[in-house]
Amino acid sequence: MSKTFSEWYDFFMKPLEQGKFKRVRSDLLKESNGKVLELGSGTGINFPFYHGVEVTAIEPSEYMLNRSLKRREQAKVPIELVQSGAELLPFGDNSFDTVVATLVFCTIPDVDQAMGEMKRVCKPDGKILMFEHVKMDQPFLAKLQERLTPYWKKVCDGCCLNRETDLLVKKYGFKIIETREFYRGLFVTMVLNNEK
Ligand SMILES: C[S@@+](CC[C@H](N)C(=O)[O-])C[C@H]1O[C@@H](n2cnc3c(N)ncnc32)[C@H](O)[C@@H]1O
Repeated sequence: MSKTFSEWYDFFMKPLEQGKFKRVRSDLLKESNGKVLELGSGTGINFPFYHGVEVTAIEPSEYMLNRSLKRREQAKVPIELVQSGAELLPFGDNSFDTVVATLVFCTIPDVDQAMGEMKRVCKPDGKILMFEHVKMDQPFLAKLQERLTPYWKKVCDGCCLNRETDLLVKKYGFKIIETREFYRGLFVTMVLNNEK
């Protein structure tokens, strides 16, 4: 993650965050409980929405980590920050009650490895809470996402518009408890059970 991208990230996301996303994040994170692991926590945009839990947040970019310090200070719960990628998590098996991933599986280079790690560190029957943009069902829009991805990826620091994260969770055997779609299925939230 480049320094410039991290500096501008909140500014560009502000219209979405102050509109629909605030409610989406708040509703999703109400489902978190116990020991929570957040993957790719970025500027800490989720931190204000945690209540009554203990959070460990991993993030590979030192620039993003630095930008999340203020939100960590203001959070209502303890948040430990760890510099790490999601593909190799420095935690033991079955360490967390909840794993949170928001707008991050679009950017993680090795999503298969990250899914496996998420499953490993989450307790059996633990919760996985995801909010992601995914490849859309509508064929024209899906094709457009495919076409745009090489350019989008360059401008948005590795973000891929064509990731099928909603399908990938099925491959890894997570049980879908609830899904919600926003903006014609461009964004989805998923509450998953970690069946082992
Ligand atoms: C689009 S931002 C989303 C930030 C935040 N999760 C949110 O909801 O706004 C993507 C984040 O994923 C992080 N990231 C990139 N590669 C990663 C990896 N391999 N593992 C975990 N996070 C990664 C980036 O540094 C960045 O902070």
